[in-house]
Amino acid sequence: MALTAPVSCGVGHTRVPVFAERVVAWQRSHGRSELPWQNTQDPYRVWLSEVMLQQTQVSTVLGYFARFLARFPSVAALAAGTEDEVFGLWSGLGYYSRARNMHRCAQEVVSRFGGEFPRTAAELQTLPGIGRSTASAVAAFCFGERVAILDGNVKRVLTRLLAFDGDMSSAAQERLLWNEATELLPPAKDRPAIARYTQGLMDLGATVCLPRKPSCMICPVSDLCAAREQGAPESYPVKTRKLRRTSQSLWMLLARDAQGRVWLEKRPSRGIWAGLYCLPVFESRDALLEMLSAKDRANARDDAVFLHVLTHKDLHLHPVDVDSRGTKPMAEEGAWFATDEWAALGLPAPVRKLLGAGGSGSV
Ligand code: ADE
Repeated sequence: MALTAPVSCGVGHTRVPVFAERVVAWQRSHGRSELPWQNTQDPYRVWLSEVMLQQTQVSTVLGYFARFLARFPSVAALAAGTEDEVFGLWSGLGYYSRARNMHRCAQEVVSRFGGEFPRTAAELQTLPGIGRSTASAVAAFCFGERVAILDGNVKRVLTRLLAFDGDMSSAAQERLLWNEATELLPPAKDRPAIARYTQGLMDLGATVCLPRKPSCMICPVSDLCAAREQGAPESYPVKTRKLRRTSQSLWMLLARDAQGRVWLEKRPSRGIWAGLYCLPVFESRDALLEMLSAKDRANARDDAVFLHVLTHKDLHLHPVDVDSRGTKPMAEEGAWFATDEWAALGLPAPVRKLLGAGGSGSV
């Protein structure tokens, strides 16, 4: 592996961190600077944004971030809120463990740290839902601590820079990359640079060093990049073929008519639960509500979210109850089915569970 040689060079006894300097200069001229969680050193805002951004794009996070802050302007306010309210504000962002941990984290900041976030990455990592990279981002942005981040985007930038061919699904290889990331940090004497360097790495990963077709022509470190020299930036990071577990939220319409029948539709022949009878499924609550008449929409009630585990996916299912008196709940294909008809239908396991229809199976 070509490691730090081209990335920093010896000048007398001083190691000049070329990479860090370039990233800092590029961030100043080309990086993002107007995001609502920038230009602040308030750890509450920075932590909130980092957690929201873990699995969600900036464009989606913007609205959630503003609504969350309007309702919970401080960590103390969040700690005092109910979990239901936190889930409500999170609704649609997915990965609900983030919301639960966030609420617990706020409560621990209050109970263990008197309402002030701790100022070091090591202490931040002791809080629920704060992993090493998030802890480092908060410590670097808010407290100028010289610590490395290594989220998905930054892994891509650094494995390419170094042509680091260790398998990223191995914890030992990931530890090695953490060491490399730490080696590349701006020097300790340049404390103000760490926040800009951290943001610069994130920005490079998000806007230039893209997973496919990276924009090497405009990359400020392309001449230092070992993967580019090999002509194969897209072959990094290296991952084994192991399927990664994913997680998805789905909303299900549970419409009943006056006789207690349930509205079911046949799933398409491809995709999840192909061909089974199922409650109508939607990717967001809004998409579900849009299908309803104004009257049904006004009667819609959110039921308890439940988890259904598939082989490679955790499904967070959100039933929405509607009492439809006589009318079809939606124009789509489908029909009302009485309790004694359910047994004969192929119903996905979570739908059976939800309807209390019994039977076995684990689809
Ligand atoms: N992704 C993770 N953290 C981010 C940040 N601070 N700004 C933009 N995108 C990010």
